[in-house]
Amino acid sequence: MRLVLVGPPGAGKGTQAQFLAAHYSIPHISTGDIMRVNIKQGTALGREVKSYMDRGELVPDTVTNEMVRLRLNEGDLGNGFLLDGFPRNVGQAEVLRAILSEKKSPLDAVLELSIPADEIVKRLSGRRTCRNCGKVWHVAFEPSAVADVCDVCQGELYQREDDKEEVITRRLEVFKEQTSPIVSFYRNEGLLITISASGTVADITERAISALSRVH
Ligand code: AP5
Repeated sequence: MRLVLVGPPGAGKGTQAQFLAAHYSIPHISTGDIMRVNIKQGTALGREVKSYMDRGELVPDTVTNEMVRLRLNEGDLGNGFLLDGFPRNVGQAEVLRAILSEKKSPLDAVLELSIPADEIVKRLSGRRTCRNCGKVWHVAFEPSAVADVCDVCQGELYQREDDKEEVITRRLEVFKEQTSPIVSFYRNEGLLITISASGTVADITERAISALSRVH
């Protein structure tokens, strides 16, 4: 299964990606996660992307496209892959199509997670992430047993810089202006499947697998 997940910030892409990647036995490739790991490790890439991410702006395509090209040439994609957070504009979608066409392995589907704006803000403002293992929590919807401590590894939970209110507003604008056009792009390619991302995590996973059974 070669799958792209599309949806606004906080739609639950990362949450669903874990379950879908396990279900189809494919790697979950999140451009945001790769960038955050680089920031944590203090690499040159991390230094380059940090200020864009903190402001809620897209990282320049030259950086992101090359990062994805390298990742898609690694040797663990025999069963396919799940891309989360890429592409994020029509230029990136065209680059992805070219990379996959060279490999003669086109996408099977693009799954769009659709969610009302007020739900997005609740999800993002309550999100907490473990500094140590990266597990994502939510103060109301999936709280850890002890506030600000990860149940899995006892690491410290933190709020992402870009989950502060003013940056959330900018990320939503960027999504609307730059990312939402890829929905029509993929609809025209005949690849788009849209599901509602409201409800429990388990319900949404079930909905996604049922919708994707048309193509896999
Ligand atoms: P990225 O990390 O990709 O962030 P995003 O797309 O904004 O998505 P999020 O991670 O915020 O949300 P999500 O949809 O994964 O939601 P989650 O599952 O965590 O990108 C960050 C930045 O990196 C960008 O702004 C940009 O600067 C840069 N970047 C990345 N890719 C790029 C690219 N291709 N080009 C250029 N720049 C790029 O869920 C959110 C919360 O809700 C969690 O707390 C979760 O527990 C909770 N939740 C999830 N599902 C449910 C549910 N069903 N019910 C209740 N709560 C739920």
